[in-house]
Amino acid sequence: MRKGILSLTAAAAAMTLGLTACGGESDTTTAQDGAAPAESQAAGKVGVILPDSKSSARWETADRKYLEEAFKAAGIAYDIQNAQGDKTQFQTIADQMMTNGATVLMIVNLDSGTGKAVLDKAKSQGVATIDYDRLTLNGGAAYYVSFDNTKVGTLQGEGLVKCLTDKKADNPIVAELNGSPTDNNATLFKNGYDSVLTPKYDAKEYVKGPDQSVPDWDNAQAGTLFEQMLTEQPKIAGVLAANDGLGNAAIAVLKKNSLNGKVPVTGQDATVQGLQNILAGDQCMTVYKAIKKEADAAAALAIALAKGEKPAATGSVKDTESGADVPAVLLDPQAIFLDNVKEVVADGFVTKDELCVGEFAAKCTEAGIQ
Ligand code: BGC
Repeated sequence: MRKGILSLTAAAAAMTLGLTACGGESDTTTAQDGAAPAESQAAGKVGVILPDSKSSARWETADRKYLEEAFKAAGIAYDIQNAQGDKTQFQTIADQMMTNGATVLMIVNLDSGTGKAVLDKAKSQGVATIDYDRLTLNGGAAYYVSFDNTKVGTLQGEGLVKCLTDKKADNPIVAELNGSPTDNNATLFKNGYDSVLTPKYDAKEYVKGPDQSVPDWDNAQAGTLFEQMLTEQPKIAGVLAANDGLGNAAIAVLKKNSLNGKVPVTGQDATVQGLQNILAGDQCMTVYKAIKKEADAAAALAIALAKGEKPAATGSVKDTESGADVPAVLLDPQAIFLDNVKEVVADGFVTKDELCVGEFAAKCTEAGIQ
């Protein structure tokens, strides 16, 4: 499905793309602390649409922050908005951005159909397009920037196996709480973890339990779904949850049944909540995606496009619907367990101050978090 995947640091990404952050036109959106804009260039404007702020904390706490930093550093005009899960609003925001002079549009789609409508309109107006984090199937974006999402899923599957092995689980029943059925990433994550779990089911080492997708990654709905799963199958012994929000919903239900800490649960995004659940022993692992690198790589592309350049990507992914090869930059995810939570802090993705509050202070010390 993929080819030519490279992982690279943001700096390397910028180099590969032949970019350096040079000053462009400064306006109210891009005013920098005292830094006079370098020689003014006829740079365009970048519009970014984030999907929501509930399916994962990442969009507002990480993606927005890092993208903003990158655009500011380059002195490029930008506008970042959040569609708050509303597909009609998503299109409205895109229209407004283009009316207000966006020459580059970067989107995290809410589903491929509505994402494609936005991309089609942008292209018809000569606006350059980037799929950020989620590939819009049949969308034809000029670039795609994300992580190796199949690998994210593989790490989750392997993580759950490790945690079940550590618990000496015998013939465990595994429940799967998948991401949104309309998010191509959720499909890739599932491909990844099922590539680890299906052989275990086939070998009768594990028992396949309930397996359901959570519409729109809705955390509340995930809780309801998992409650039903556990009622129907009280012996669930492991939960493959596709991100930290879904994992936390499952953990809340396990807690009500005094099963938290006994039944390992996976996650993704290395959110403060997910990492605290790991410190508490209620979550077995998460997947850390260094979003700064993702934002830097996407911003580097957007900035080049805004300047009228034609940046090169480092690889490509196959759009499974259109069959097209989409130029892509894909980064490498990392599995996080109790023993390496400290690496997420050391990387500056979460701070000790936000993670190690109250009851977590002592657990942070135990986990070697400085
Ligand atoms: C992202 C995940 C995120 C999920 C829910 C996925 O497309 O890759 O990082 O947890 O959406 O927002």
